[in-house]
Amino acid sequence: MREEYAARLHAPNMRHIFICGGTGCHATGSIAVKDRLVEEVAARGLGETVRIVETGCNGFCALGPLLLVHPDNIFYQKLSADDIPELVEEQLVHGRQVERLLYRDPQTKKPIPHFGDIPFFARQQPWTLRNKGIINPESIEDYIGRDGYLGTAKALLELTPESIVQEMLTSGLRGRGGAGFPTGMKWQFAQRSPGDVKYVLCNADEGDPGAFMDRSILEADPHAVLEGMIIAARAINAHQGYIYCRSEYPLAVRRVQIAIDQARALGLLGRDILGSGFDFDVEIYQGAGAFVCGEETALMRSIEGKRGMPRPRPPFPAHKGLWEKPTILNNVETLANVAQIMINGGAWYASVGTEKSKGTKVFALSGDVNNIGLVEVPMGTPLRSIVYDIGGGIPKKRKLKAVQLGGPSGGCIPEAHLDVVVDYEEIAKVGAIMGSGGAIVMDDRTCMVDMARFFLDFIQDESCGKCTPCREGTRRQLELLEKICAGNGEEGDIALLEELSAMITESALCGLGQTASNPVLSALRYFRDEFDAHITHKKCPAKRCAALLDFTVNAEKCKKCGKCYQTCPVQAIAWQKKEVAVINRDICVRCMSCFEACPFDAID
Ligand SMILES: Cc1cc2nc3c(=O)[nH]c(=O)nc-3n(C[C@H](O)[C@H](O)[C@H](O)COP(=O)(O)O)c2cc1C
Ligand code: FES
Repeated sequence: MREEYAARLHAPNMRHIFICGGTGCHATGSIAVKDRLVEEVAARGLGETVRIVETGCNGFCALGPLLLVHPDNIFYQKLSADDIPELVEEQLVHGRQVERLLYRDPQTKKPIPHFGDIPFFARQQPWTLRNKGIINPESIEDYIGRDGYLGTAKALLELTPESIVQEMLTSGLRGRGGAGFPTGMKWQFAQRSPGDVKYVLCNADEGDPGAFMDRSILEADPHAVLEGMIIAARAINAHQGYIYCRSEYPLAVRRVQIAIDQARALGLLGRDILGSGFDFDVEIYQGAGAFVCGEETALMRSIEGKRGMPRPRPPFPAHKGLWEKPTILNNVETLANVAQIMINGGAWYASVGTEKSKGTKVFALSGDVNNIGLVEVPMGTPLRSIVYDIGGGIPKKRKLKAVQLGGPSGGCIPEAHLDVVVDYEEIAKVGAIMGSGGAIVMDDRTCMVDMARFFLDFIQDESCGKCTPCREGTRRQLELLEKICAGNGEEGDIALLEELSAMITESALCGLGQTASNPVLSALRYFRDEFDAHITHKKCPAKRCAALLDFTVNAEKCKKCGKCYQTCPVQAIAWQKKEVAVINRDICVRCMSCFEACPFDAID
């Protein structure tokens, strides 16, 4: 299959069109683009020389629908079905690029046709995402063509369970689900746990706001995750596995099910895998989409058919997990690395990264950044390079304020610390966590009090209510933040927030409550002056908190262009040509339209 795949991919005169079929591109219309492409290619009789492949998420989601023409490596973006006749005529018939559909550098505005020259891709190191955008995730043949199941074969036929664990320990791979626990150690504990019945679980719950790494991996390369599970199962002698995936990820669920069926059909799951005598099978368990069900003990309860609530640890799952049996739970991204470690060896994986953080890490880059999408970089890469070199910087030449890392358990890293490198310990030193990889970029128009309020609102909603500190404490914190944002903050509110944070962190039952205060504490650490401005001066410096806004036009900065007048939805602005605009505060609903529309920052 590998030879066949290579022959197909490199056949002379063949063109492969990899069209993105990730959730993001589906949402922007990639299915219509693909259908039109199929029609157009057939109508022109190009069926013999053009192969159209629907892939998983390519990673550059903000530009979808997008496609890549192989072997020319021309990258097209923001397509619509109507663009296809021209694209087929020019690119596929005449070999000429369609300039208007190419990616343009956000700064120079020049087109960059070749995939490999686009900084967003060129500066990444796709190890975990090695197959994204270039295989059909619903074809096990495509996967095998890219060395798929070689890692499984090696682990089952050549290595002992002990040497599998040894390779994992050597690799230094740490869990990518948030806590960063060494995967080899986790497997070793479960391997040494006595018992005939053991389980391997994959955590595909992915509830952090701003995170879509795990979903994209499952959509683009589901077999890689299955391989990780088979190898883990062999290491601890488990015979059953579950993938816990939230039901809000229907495409991921569908593709994983197809992958499971295909692997079973080829004897890569089920009884006597590859004739090794080892049995292992996998089922999908669909979660209802509760953040707390990503917590390991809650996740296991949920699979047991009970309400997804956490329990105190110890005992740890490696000793007593699902149905009280020794269990390994690993994150999707963690598992997607395992087969490559088996093929290339632990030392290969550990050759990249920092002293204590090895290999690469996938981030979901979003927010106020030009290039929104999936980014995989070697550990040790400066955050500044992710935001500026790969992310293309901040739109509209605005200033970066902070990067929020690690979701509700994380914190914000201000511009002054942006040179911090991607490394579990280094990131923790500046008050955030690596987390599962959600990276939300915030420009100078973000209100950090409001940001803290947003995360607490999420946490408060998602608290399962089992322990009082988390159930009641986060509610009190949210009330305080809402009060501050509404302009009713009082002296002593910050001290109360800090006191509550310490109390909840210390006494909450599970990671949800124990880390719930992190976004608040890190906002206070770096942006205390914004809290003071809200409480003492009743001002929101970023102009986000509606109750504290009172817009006026700065006559010195106003260039009399009338843009504010044109955008105001409630006609609160008076303006005439060559006149400074005037805002009627009685009519103004503080919607920010004028503030956003003014090109000269003349709205105060
Ligand atoms: C509230 C909460 C939510 C979590 N959500 C996830 C999640 O969505 N995905 C995930 O892999 N880990 C999540 N975790 C971490 C898991 O409990 C667990 O540590 C992880 O899945 C282990 O896999 P790893 O070692 O490969 O990272 C969450 C933890 C907490 C406390
Ligand atoms: S969904 Fe198409 S690039 Fe992510």
